[in-house]
Amino acid sequence: MLKVINVVGARPNFMKVAPLVAAMKKRPDKFQPLVVHTGQHYDLAMSDAFFTDLELPTPDTHLGVGSGTHAAQTAAVMERFEPLVFQEKPDWVVVVGDVNSTLACALVCVKLGTKVAHVEAGLRSRDRTMPEEINRLLTDQIADLLFTTSVDANQNLIAEGIPAERIRLVGNVMIDSLVKNLDRARQSVIKTQLGLTGRGYVLLTLHRPSNVDNRETFSRILDALEKICSSLPIIFPVHPRTRKTIADLGLSERVRSIGNLRLIDPLGYLDFINLYSGARLVLTDSGGIQEETTFLGIPCLTLRENTERPITVELGTNTIVGTDTQKIISAATSALNGSSSKSLPKVQLWDGHAADRMLDALEEFSINS
Ligand code: UD1
Repeated sequence: MLKVINVVGARPNFMKVAPLVAAMKKRPDKFQPLVVHTGQHYDLAMSDAFFTDLELPTPDTHLGVGSGTHAAQTAAVMERFEPLVFQEKPDWVVVVGDVNSTLACALVCVKLGTKVAHVEAGLRSRDRTMPEEINRLLTDQIADLLFTTSVDANQNLIAEGIPAERIRLVGNVMIDSLVKNLDRARQSVIKTQLGLTGRGYVLLTLHRPSNVDNRETFSRILDALEKICSSLPIIFPVHPRTRKTIADLGLSERVRSIGNLRLIDPLGYLDFINLYSGARLVLTDSGGIQEETTFLGIPCLTLRENTERPITVELGTNTIVGTDTQKIISAATSALNGSSSKSLPKVQLWDGHAADRMLDALEEFSINS
């Protein structure tokens, strides 16, 4: 029996851990899963709503770290996670993605000699100003087992000197969640609530510090949005960080002046799938949304200078447009005028079964090590 602590901290973690815990519960003779929530995200809309939508069990332990500077948040997770590892003595700790909680818990494990597996390893934007890039690089260096979503991630890890036997290409567990929940998401009434019909809208998400903490960059993006929403409404579920910076940077009036830009509260998992799967176009600076739109063949413009998920660009659904006003407008115009009947891209192993492949590897690794 393998006792496994599954760590969640922030919004993009929940949909990656839910399929793993569900798969472990289907192998009760082999796995004893525990869920630990660091509390990096804590608002109802950023956390609890996802437990309900994803049918994730209530965390066995909640560390309640909350927000803070990178150092304070990472340190708080480490201080509170370490005694738990002492107490539970897990066979494995599973960390996912690239948030501060991911690195903090991996670091605790490597120092205690507890085996740690990193889900979504090997993604690289090659932009070390992104806090997530640092979290990815360091977590991958210290994890015992690295689960990758695509071939380019394996290549990145090998190039960084990670031994091949520690790397497993298992596919995309976030897509497991999407596959499982797509039908339920289609029943959401969010579009009716927002008065939307058909595909007549654009969906926007924006929360990267490089975009929303800088007045000049944010203003350039707003200028582009103003032009784009002269033809179609833009629905904008606003991340708490962004809500705060709009006010702090004195942009509230500017945002309000863009009539067809509709700010709404952050959405739950099912409502959000419903909205992006029906959108004519998605504008985002998120990582996961680039992959989810690729899986569903929805055109996506990424408002960043780079991506750690190049496969989404190679497959043609995602375009990296940066934050130049004219570039965003011209890419949006051609995406909105383009044909919507492209064939659905297929990525190897993005098939709804990544969690099972990870459990097979955890079992095999535990026997061999
Ligand atoms: C974090 C992750 C980022 C991920 C994003 C998804 C890191 C370094 N960043 O960024 O990779 O893409 O989550 O959402 O781990 N806040 C609330 N309520 C909450 C959570 C946050 O109001 O439940 C506000 C606080 O003002 C906080 C700010 O948002 O200071 C930023 O939160 P934080 O967790 O530090 O980073 P995110 O921008 O959410």
